[in-house]
Amino acid sequence: MSPKNGNKPRVLSGIQPSGNLTIGNYLGALKQWVAVQHEYDCFYCVVDLHAITAVQDPAELRLKTRESAAMYIAAGIDPEVSTVFVQSHIPAHSELAWMLTCMAPLGWLHRMTQFKDKSAKQAQESIGAGLLNYPSLMAADILLYHADFVPVGDDQNQHLEFTRDLAQRFNHLYGETFTLPSVMNPAAGARIMGLDNPTAKMSKSEASENHAIFLLDDPSRARKKVMRAVTDSRREIRFSQDPERAGVNNLLTIYQAITNEPTEAIQAAFADKGYGDLKRAVADTVAATLQPLQTRYNELMNEAGYLDSVLKIGREKAAEIAEDTLKLAQDRMGFLAPS
Ligand code: TYM
Repeated sequence: MSPKNGNKPRVLSGIQPSGNLTIGNYLGALKQWVAVQHEYDCFYCVVDLHAITAVQDPAELRLKTRESAAMYIAAGIDPEVSTVFVQSHIPAHSELAWMLTCMAPLGWLHRMTQFKDKSAKQAQESIGAGLLNYPSLMAADILLYHADFVPVGDDQNQHLEFTRDLAQRFNHLYGETFTLPSVMNPAAGARIMGLDNPTAKMSKSEASENHAIFLLDDPSRARKKVMRAVTDSRREIRFSQDPERAGVNNLLTIYQAITNEPTEAIQAAFADKGYGDLKRAVADTVAATLQPLQTRYNELMNEAGYLDSVLKIGREKAAEIAEDTLKLAQDRMGFLAPS
């Protein structure tokens, strides 16, 4: 069974439009998406159904969904090459998610770190069931397109393992249906940490001012955040897994993820330098990344109709594949086809 056109392996990934995208989203996900788009047959979706596992303001969700799609393109995704679409535009995602939810063992779901972390922050009675079932929806996103690779930051690796396990369970029970996907993490930048607290992952929903660099931060503001980043009381500038040195390691990681320079070359370049020099160098590369991205983003948001036409074409291309896979899975599970 080969559901694919041509010989290119398929890639699928998505970002939740649940806030403003950060440099963590860029370095962990978007930058890889751009890098692989000519080599693979890529599908990039704005996962709005995932965003509603937390209550969203309706007008804000609509806006963030468009903004996220614009950001994908501003970051370098070429909609003529990759398929860009909105998850909720393809009902097959919700339909397959239900079928997979019914097969997902509660034990597996309860083991998910993201569920444990997020649910720990809320009162048990008020946690929506969607938060627990979230990985089944993510599995549906991936399996509908028979994705071979899923480029993500390393916080999503456990969800990828879950997706593979669930696909295997389905294939075992109902016959070969789904492709088992592999995770694709970037060599540098798979986990960018908070600038104010380098032992916690940088997150778009963290409120404190100096935690995250947002892709739409004014470059001078982004620069200030870098200059205020937490470091340590030593002097040595080296990559290190020592939690005490997490701040310097994070700055070096951001620098490496942006410049793609090898570890040794970076350490040699900063051997005789101080933390102020490191921060200035990181601030420069960050500002140089944000500037062109923001120019393109503003053009896209002001270009009437363009984004909608991209999402319409994306929806048509994605729907064709997703509906075929859904039909196959429904047939395998024993649903009576409508006549
Ligand atoms: P989300 O929206 O939390 O994050 C989107 C992408 O950004 C990466 N990321 C990071 N990478 C490095 N450092 C960070 N600090 C950082 N923060 C976020 C994430 O790893 C992710 O790649 N469940 C997913 C969305 C999703 C999805 C999918 C992904 C839904 N369906 C299907 C791939 C395939 C999520 O919540 O991502």
